[in-house]
Amino acid sequence: MNIIWHKKSRQYHLYNDKISYIMGVTPVGELGGIYFGKKVHDKEDFSYVEYRGGLPNIVVDPDTESYSRELNRQEYPSFGTTDFGASAYEMEQSNGSCVSSFTYKSHSIFKGKTPLKGLPATYAEENEAMTLEVTLEDDVARMSLILSYTIFDKYPVVVRHAVFRNDGAETVKLTKVMSTCLDLPDQNYRWMQFSGAWARERIPQEKDLSSGSVMIESKRGISSANQNPFIIIKRPNTDEFTGEAFGFSLVYSGNFIAQAECDTYRRTRILMGINPERFAWPLDKGEEFETPEVVMAVTDSGLNDLSQTYHSLFNNHLVRGKWKNKPRPILINNWEATFMDFTEERILHIAEKAKEAGIELFVLDDGWFGERNDDYAGLGDWVENPDKLPQGIRGLARKMNAMGLKFGFWIEPEMVNPDSNLFRRHPDWALQTPGRKASLGRHQLVLDYSREEVVDYIYSMLKKVLTDAPISYIKWDMNRSLTEVYSAELPPEKQGMVYHKYIMGVYSLYERLRTEFPEILFESCSSGGNRFDAGMLYYAPQAWCSDNTDAIDRIRIQYGTSYGYPISSIGAHVSACPNQQTGRDVSISTRANVAFFGAFGYELDLNHITDEEFEEVKRQIEFMKENRELLQFGKFYRLRSPFEADQAAWIVVSEDGKKAVFGLYCMRSNVNMLPGFLRLAGLKEDAVYMLKGEEYYGDELMNLGVPVGKLSSDGLAVGRDFVSYVEVLEAK
Ligand code: GLA
Repeated sequence: MNIIWHKKSRQYHLYNDKISYIMGVTPVGELGGIYFGKKVHDKEDFSYVEYRGGLPNIVVDPDTESYSRELNRQEYPSFGTTDFGASAYEMEQSNGSCVSSFTYKSHSIFKGKTPLKGLPATYAEENEAMTLEVTLEDDVARMSLILSYTIFDKYPVVVRHAVFRNDGAETVKLTKVMSTCLDLPDQNYRWMQFSGAWARERIPQEKDLSSGSVMIESKRGISSANQNPFIIIKRPNTDEFTGEAFGFSLVYSGNFIAQAECDTYRRTRILMGINPERFAWPLDKGEEFETPEVVMAVTDSGLNDLSQTYHSLFNNHLVRGKWKNKPRPILINNWEATFMDFTEERILHIAEKAKEAGIELFVLDDGWFGERNDDYAGLGDWVENPDKLPQGIRGLARKMNAMGLKFGFWIEPEMVNPDSNLFRRHPDWALQTPGRKASLGRHQLVLDYSREEVVDYIYSMLKKVLTDAPISYIKWDMNRSLTEVYSAELPPEKQGMVYHKYIMGVYSLYERLRTEFPEILFESCSSGGNRFDAGMLYYAPQAWCSDNTDAIDRIRIQYGTSYGYPISSIGAHVSACPNQQTGRDVSISTRANVAFFGAFGYELDLNHITDEEFEEVKRQIEFMKENRELLQFGKFYRLRSPFEADQAAWIVVSEDGKKAVFGLYCMRSNVNMLPGFLRLAGLKEDAVYMLKGEEYYGDELMNLGVPVGKLSSDGLAVGRDFVSYVEVLEAK
């Protein structure tokens, strides 16, 4: 790994064993893009990529005679001069001018990576990464722009973000600030996004890029289940195992855009960052604005390789604290078993049975606080309801511990019900626009986390509940989108700051709680998977993936989620059947066979299943305890897509390839078909593995494939709806 500055050509080359990122100072003094992809030899000068020929109808930049921004790759293009593509930023001076040009002034190259201020970010030790910070200045607006690039030693990854600083006396307003801009030299790409809604999150969708823009966004104040802040740009022939692809993951949990723009010269520009809609950030003298970062990854070996990069990078350089790379406790959550209608006795009854099954952690969901007996009341009042918990959270936690279970509980700290003591006391603490009616979502309003006093207040309430109670886990929920966004505290010219300040408030509360209570495992949640993003993983190493716990739907949801996020982060539970969301009946074995590939748990009352099923649950828990490290942190490969076939399959392989667990699922039976073969991946070619009492070489399993007919005793194999197989392979 190195970052080279070629003084003569004024170009930078960031490289490691796998990739190169090259850019340099353009003839107008700004930064221009040269290359991002597989590693290439270093060279003093790559300026042959610059185009100086001139074309009809082109506007040429001043003082250059033949250089036009429009015809050349830009690193962080501005609006209003000779680049007519989508801009990376827009800013307005106090005289109303929106034209700017940031030119090279200096740079620094250092080992490691510095943290962002109040924002989630990847991190690295000095020997694990190198960072380049290029300082550019606009002398007219008296503004500095620092573009930051980190290259990791072991990953085909470059992480980027930008910082604006006002060095002058007059206020400058930022109205668009992307985290990255990447100009690619052609447009022969397919765009992949991960879209959905409540209960059907992160479903991959693809389209060809062609002239014009493709854009996804969130304007909900959360990253959202509708569009995930992660995209892939790949060659048309790229598949799971071969071909070139780029990934872009925004380490941010609020409003965002991701855009690909193909121009008239058949080139592609990728942009990603905070959604400019309703974003306006005035910078006074000496003030700075720092964007969130984007993790840009590249592969020439297909989408599994790209995903594995994100899995490993996020596990090792984004997740922090006690739970970093640590197998997750097997939990039981009472939500689907009781909803809000419970007593301590009922909870302990569920817990006893869970303990008997081998479960390690009990999670008390919604309904334990305030007047919270349905979803009309109580949010904001984080004090135990004595009718349900006579000795409070502390009393219940101690009883759980005495039983041999760890204990955790649910909170939704960003919300307030109009029917709550908090709202009655502080109605102005909710986001509401003067003179307008406030829209309710699940009968609740959103607290104004752009205000420090609101965050402080919620922190002190939660601290009270957490102090002296043996709490091991928190499920942090967030159940509605932001609307009528306006902060009672800010002056009119600062209202465009509220969305971003809101999420900064959320991050600050997370940071305070995890610093104060470092033992706690946080699981983020937002009506299931409404805020499943890299930003959240910095604070909460796992996320409730979806409220849809139907195993068959979950195959699709977890499969889609795996493109951008590690298996250790995917909260996955076995719930009761018929399933509460879909009404579908699936065996308890298939329910677990899907949930094994995630942060595993149960979401039902084990007193209500048959003895036979209970025995099976015990075996499942044993299996998970034995294999969870591999399942959650091994190399994960998607093998068969549930979006393309009636079957789905995946495999997780240990670092040395000697141990693997694969899952094969029949989503819909296919009458009168041969069982076929499932080609595995990641194994050692020469190693011999045992499968169903027979020996196979790794290369056989990966090339001829597993004879699917051998998996079941009746030979029907995946021939019936919702049948599944999970098998462990171990090299002899
Ligand atoms: C959301 C979550 C659920 C559950 C409920 C509680 O819907 O996604 O898992 O916690 O809230 O109200």
